[in-house]
Amino acid sequence: MKPFDLSQNRPMRIAVLISGTGRTLRNLLQRVASGQLHAEIPVVIASTPSARGLQYAEKAAIPLTMVERKDFASLGAYGEAIFRHVRAAGADLVILAGFFRRIVVPDDFVNHVVAIHPSLIPAFCGRGFYSHRVHEAVLEYGVKVTGCTVHFIDNEYDHGPVILQMDVPVLEGDTLDSLEARVFATECEAFPKALELIAEGRVSVEGRRVKIAPAPPPK
Ligand code: GRF
Repeated sequence: MKPFDLSQNRPMRIAVLISGTGRTLRNLLQRVASGQLHAEIPVVIASTPSARGLQYAEKAAIPLTMVERKDFASLGAYGEAIFRHVRAAGADLVILAGFFRRIVVPDDFVNHVVAIHPSLIPAFCGRGFYSHRVHEAVLEYGVKVTGCTVHFIDNEYDHGPVILQMDVPVLEGDTLDSLEARVFATECEAFPKALELIAEGRVSVEGRRVKIAPAPPPK
């Protein structure tokens, strides 16, 4: 990954892709507004007009684009349409914030597309593991620890290089909802943290391994 170019002296620009409730988008908007995440969101791209998260983009007056899979003959054409909007918005990075469609990452965005998954990859991930299904499988299997994973995406499900992971204990009294809520609270820390590391130019990728450079000494 080309580190984010700090010499440009501007915030990193993140295009956010959504399909669902948009809680992840809402969290990122709050982090940006409070100055905890040094970034800006020049565009939100939704895969469906029924994405409830659209309201957060509207409230924050962020340009909004709808790109629906049904309007494209192939997965490739769908991805190309999305990245046309991403480039037009001048985005440095793309994030999948509860985005439920597959996309093909073009060459100029390899290791520049970041997603979050609600388990410790490579457990409970891959095709069919999304949202509640992940936590259902975790409870059913009986593992004692789960968590979330922020990773770059490649062209396989939940497979690209891991940027950071945070663990969450599975408690005896956990229900689907209580576990989901605890994992999601962790996601709300992990995602902005990973993005801030990228914005600080501290993240590099070597093969499958992501290296995080130490924080520079305070000036
Ligand atoms: C979370 O499970 C997250 O891990 C996954 O999408 C869910 C959040 O969706 N990527 P949203 O932000 O509430 O729409």
